[in-house]
Amino acid sequence: MKVQIVSDKQAGGQAGFRVFEDALQNGAKVLGLATGSTPVTIYEQLAASDLDFSQLTSVNLDEYVGLNADHPQSYHYFMQEHLFNAKPFAHSYVPDGADLDAAKATSEYDQIIAENPIDLQLLGLGKNGHIGFNEPGTDPDSTTHKVMLTDSTIDANARFFDNADEVPRYAYSMGIGSILKAKQILIVAYGEAKAAAVAAMIQGPVTPDVPASYLQTHPNVTVILDEAAASQL
Ligand code: GLP
Repeated sequence: MKVQIVSDKQAGGQAGFRVFEDALQNGAKVLGLATGSTPVTIYEQLAASDLDFSQLTSVNLDEYVGLNADHPQSYHYFMQEHLFNAKPFAHSYVPDGADLDAAKATSEYDQIIAENPIDLQLLGLGKNGHIGFNEPGTDPDSTTHKVMLTDSTIDANARFFDNADEVPRYAYSMGIGSILKAKQILIVAYGEAKAAAVAAMIQGPVTPDVPASYLQTHPNVTVILDEAAASQL
């Protein structure tokens, strides 16, 4: 894993932007995108750039089950606001959280990923080491699946809702196996609250207890951290 330590989120946005720019120059056609607060500064840089995404495809990691695409806390909406309004792609895919038929929604999404192999996958990191919504204990070979969110994840995401009761209890997420198929992976983490998960991801054993630790088995991973997130390395 290539680890790059930056001074703050703004510098992280610039460093992340350069990884995207290089991937595009090297012919990337399918970008795997993520939500959460961490990618926001990268999206700001991408949105303000002269990069052209109009011939590219994006595939997002996850979506809450039960939220329509126009719900302000849905990941569809997030992507629209933070990137797609400024930079439309030829095709943008996000799991369909409005489809309550989990078998259908997840197999359709696996088909989309199979038809659009991901060149560069962007990831944030959960405080408990999750990637996408792959919580501790997830099978490393998993494909897209329905996930029951842990209390830790519900609490962490409650800040985006009026209260914790409104946070959906389930999500559809690409699996760890789907993520590891990406040709290149960029994972970003900021802040002291992520420091233990960062150390476990990079220096700990490869274990289902820390889903991000499986990234150690991938040949092309870049990690961007601020000093607080890197403080336990
Ligand atoms: C959510 C998302 C993850 C994200 C994580 C961390 O659980 N499903 O993809 O990485 O939150 O979010 P943040 O970047 O806001 O810390």
